[in-house]
Amino acid sequence: MSLLEVDTISKTYGSGHTRVTALEDVSFALDKGSLLAVLGPSGSGKTTLLSVIAGLLAPTGGEIRIAGSPIHLRSAREAAAFRRAHVGLVFQEYHLVPYLSAAENLLLVVRLSGRVTRADRERATGLLKEFGLESRSRHVPSMLSGGERQRVAIARALMNEPEIMLVDEPTSHLDTERGLQVVDLLSTHIRERDMTCVMVTHDPRMAEEADRVLRLVDGRVAEPCCDV
Ligand SMILES: Nc1ncnc2c1ncn2[C@@H]1O[C@H](COP(=O)(O)OP(=O)(O)OP(=O)(O)O)[C@@H](O)[C@H]1O
Ligand SMILES: [Mg+2]
Repeated sequence: MSLLEVDTISKTYGSGHTRVTALEDVSFALDKGSLLAVLGPSGSGKTTLLSVIAGLLAPTGGEIRIAGSPIHLRSAREAAAFRRAHVGLVFQEYHLVPYLSAAENLLLVVRLSGRVTRADRERATGLLKEFGLESRSRHVPSMLSGGERQRVAIARALMNEPEIMLVDEPTSHLDTERGLQVVDLLSTHIRERDMTCVMVTHDPRMAEEADRVLRLVDGRVAEPCCDV
């Protein structure tokens, strides 16, 4: 059984003359331990797709199943608890807490569900180091570059050891070389732990790290999901 099943998902925003079909009949299944790159031009529905998979946005039609269980049957509260335990999310606009240091941004995930232990601090320090941020752990986001913030957001999403990572444009603020480094760090981390990842990107070069590529055009899958 696939870990993640996206089954004929459609999403329409608005109504009347502002109605936009952001997704139409999108289907794919992803096994545990694989990395899927979602490619597509601006406005093709990539962020909408991630939000629906994360259970942050209800689809207009279709169903998302994680480990065989449909996510739309959960209440908002259950969905939030599920995300905290199993899903790591990295958005286009990082959503870092501006008045907390990089390390405290990572530990916030733990603080929300209990007490921060020494092991948690060590884990946060280890992740910051893994992403080349050991000398920035006490900096607040406004003291970091765009790329550093992006790496803090990725490290934070990995804090709770999620089974599924959903990453939106992890490299949009980086030049290609730095971008590829970040994707490489992320894919190494994911593969070492047999995690599953959906990574959205504009950039076909980033998709080379992926096991499979899904191309979206105007909310539709442009070609069957294929191996790269
Ligand atoms: N809240 C919303 N209300 C109405 N329309 C929306 C909303 N969010 C997105 N859209 C529309 O849905 C379509 C898909 O948007 P989405 O954000 O998923 O695209 P994207 O592929 O992530 O684009 P980008 O690469 O620019 O981030 C776009 O045409 C957008 O204008
Ligand atoms: Mg987007």
